[in-house]
Amino acid sequence: MNKETMAACALPVLVIGSLNMDLVVTVCQLPQQGETVFGRNFATFPGGKGANQAVAAAKLGARVTMVGCVGQDNFAAELLESLRLAGVETSQVRSVTGKTTGVALITVADKGVNTIVVVAGANQECNPGDVQAALAKTKNPGIVLLQNEVPPATVEYAIRTAGEQGWKVIYNPAPARTVDAGILGLVDILTPNETELAALTGMPVRSQQEAVAAGKKLLQTGVKQIIVTMGAAGALLIAERMVKAVPAIQVQAVDSTAAGDCYTGAVAAGLAEGQPLETALHFAAVAAGLSVTREGAQSALPSKDAVEKYMRKKVKMYEKKWRAE
Ligand code: RIB
Repeated sequence: MNKETMAACALPVLVIGSLNMDLVVTVCQLPQQGETVFGRNFATFPGGKGANQAVAAAKLGARVTMVGCVGQDNFAAELLESLRLAGVETSQVRSVTGKTTGVALITVADKGVNTIVVVAGANQECNPGDVQAALAKTKNPGIVLLQNEVPPATVEYAIRTAGEQGWKVIYNPAPARTVDAGILGLVDILTPNETELAALTGMPVRSQQEAVAAGKKLLQTGVKQIIVTMGAAGALLIAERMVKAVPAIQVQAVDSTAAGDCYTGAVAAGLAEGQPLETALHFAAVAAGLSVTREGAQSALPSKDAVEKYMRKKVKMYEKKWRAE
């Protein structure tokens, strides 16, 4: 099968989530409470967890539609342009009168660590009606991707309705909040990081061992598979009678913003084109690893060619490490 035929056969990916303009300052060290520090640089980058995941999946070969809301300002136009440039369908992004587009104030320090403050703006207007309209427009169900930067009622409606209609539901529960166990039980793949897993379970998650214990507790809700993302420490796949560690690739981190989004988007893209889950996790590990070597959110997301090139180059070393796990 050639690339074009493969893309045509792939499942559609619907991303329901936020679009934010990221206002980013770089500093040597994150400021402490009450402290003023000088920034080195300021820049704006298209971001938002939903839009980042949409761009990640599209750049990695998936057919992606974005569902969300923007305000009527210049940021909105820039964000839509960034989605379109990556090949994301934007007809389901609604422009809301009288609201500002979402923004995120991000501080990035050495080694790529960051803090993020989000002002949701128009993202708060994304409602079940938007989800219903988008689901109705897609003939064949594929993969739905969700996060926590649109209202909980919208996320919950999407999980229920998409699941009932035969979509595979991937839920990235970020930023952290508690979620009803009945809702989690309807999710096919959950992709929390350590903080989010701790918020969902009320259990401490400071080590791989604690992540496994919390993940196993979460399986009791009925969620089918959990992928715990742990940055440079890699990821853990936790399912019934199965725990598997997937290593991260070794890179010089510059900016970790959107690494988790890249990971989730890459898992969706891999599954959409028919990769088995474990293959998709390797693919996602490489994509997310490459994303932290560049600045910004969407600007840092790698193409499918870049990921495949890396995999070809490193395949021997990578396989050896994977077997040793
Ligand atoms: O996950 C990274 C994203 O979180 C940023 O792009 C920012 O917009 C916030 O939503």
